[in-house]
Parts: sequence; C-alpha cells; structure tokens
Amino acid sequence: MPNESEFDESTELSASFGFRPIDPRQRQGLVNEVFATVAERYDLMNDLMSGGLHRLWKDDLVTTLNPPKRAEIFRVLDLAGGTGDVAMRIVRAGGDGTSTVICDISPEMLEVGRRKVEAAGLTDRISLVEGNAEALPFADRSFDAVTIAFGIRNVTHIDKALAEMYRVLRPGGRLLVLEFSHVDVPMLDRLYDLFSFEAIPRLGQLAAGSSEPYRYLVESIRRFPKQEAFADMIRGAGFERAHYRNLTGGIAAIHSGWRI
Ligand SMILES: C[S@@+](CC[C@H](N)C(=O)[O-])C[C@H]1O[C@@H](n2cnc3c(N)ncnc32)[C@H](O)[C@@H]1O
Repeated sequence: MPNESEFDESTELSASFGFRPIDPRQRQGLVNEVFATVAERYDLMNDLMSGGLHRLWKDDLVTTLNPPKRAEIFRVLDLAGGTGDVAMRIVRAGGDGTSTVICDISPEMLEVGRRKVEAAGLTDRISLVEGNAEALPFADRSFDAVTIAFGIRNVTHIDKALAEMYRVLRPGGRLLVLEFSHVDVPMLDRLYDLFSFEAIPRLGQLAAGSSEPYRYLVESIRRFPKQEAFADMIRGAGFERAHYRNLTGGIAAIHSGWRI
C-alpha cells in the first residue's frame, strides 16, 4: 500500500473505506463488492433503514428537477442509478419526451433495475448502461440534466466524476445531487448517531445477513464533505449558481448546479 504522501489531493477525501484508510486504487473494488452483496435486498433495506424517508427525498429530487410535462425531448442521465428508483420517478413525472439513462458501475444493481423497468413497462423510456462515473461512456453535451442519488459518496475521485457530469451536460443543463449529509439540528444529531452506529449495522445483520456493508454505509456518510464544502466542489467543477437545500434537518441534502 502506498504511503499517504503518494495520495494526490483529489483522492485524499476518499482514501478510506469507511473509517479504514486504504489505497484509493482498491476502494472502488470494495464498494462494488458491497453493492454486489446487497443488490437483491437493496430496495427493502432502503425502506427499512430510512423508515421510508428515501422515497420522500427522491420525490423531492424529482419535483426539483421538474421534467417538462409536454412532449418535448428531455434526456436525463441518472448516474449511480442502481435499481432504477429515481429514473422511474423521473419518467413518470415527465411528459412523453422525457427519457432516462441509468448508468451504474454494478452489474448486479443494474440487473435488479432492469427487471423493475421491464415489470413497469418502461423499457422504451429508460435504458441501462454499465459505466463508471469517473469516465462516463457518453458524448459531450448529450444530456439535459444529470441526477445522482446516494451515489456520489461511493465514488473514489469525486472531482473527476463532477467534471464528467459537467462534460456530458448541455449548456443550460442542470445537475442535481441527492446525498446523505450532515445533521445541523441539536439533539437530532445525537439520535442520528445512535441510530446510525447501533441500529443500522444490526438491521443489516438481521435483514441481509451481514453488518459489514451497512457499517461501510454509515461510515462513508460521515466522511462525505459537509454541505458547503460539497457546494464548493460543484463550483470547482465549473457549475454555476451552486446551492443546496437540507432535507430532514440535514440527514440528506439536495445540491444543485447549472452548466451555463
Ligand atoms: C446507494 S446506491 C444508490 C442507488 C440509487 N441511486 C438509489 O438512490 O436508490 C449507490 C450506487 O452507486 C453505484 N456506484 C458506486 N460507485 C460508482 C461509480 N464509480 N460509478 C457509477 N456508479 C457507482 C453503486 O453500484 C450503487 O448502485
């Protein structure tokens, strides 16, 4: 393993797996193992662990995106789109011209997503593509909007991924990032800590047979940059009018930026 001086600045934020320092080159592989392990139970665990809140947050994301209701073409990239929750909400909220590409690095998550999209009869408006957020397999300026929900904190080089999102957006296009964030309400922060570090790994053990992926989940949330710092990273990638809005006291936040 290289020593810390070999890690460049862009990887420093992420040179850990949970709270365990690791070689950044190994991190994506470990993240992929987590999602390969949880894919089949991912939706159920999401509901259990957030008490259904993730549904409200995703609805909020889609309301903020506000896809056009008319038939005009509106192409959305739902990055790290996993099992398809956000993509399906987007096309249902938009008119006939709204389509979504789900891009995710995990074939296991995509397979669950593919089955859901087929069962919902949405294959003509949602496609699924395997790909890494750090090197997107799409042409410059090919999307009207990019969404990423609970995905960015899993990426090793966040700055590379933001640069890619900027590249594939057309000028005038919008980036929306829904991510767990940092609680800013006294008392709620303590309760949230207790729930995160005690209850979530136990729920994981009971419902999915392993606490390790869920320990990673909690720890990766704690290491993710605070709201303002992440807004600065979005600005640093070239986006304009970057701002954020906290959800549920900062348990999650929606960050927004525009490619002008
Ligand atoms: C917590 S899940 C979120 C799934 C979905 N967006 C949702 O909100 O339900 C995180 C997803 O990020 C994906 N992911 C992790 N690293 C990635 C990368 N470098 N590029 C693309 N997707 C990645 C994982 O495979 C996983 O499907």
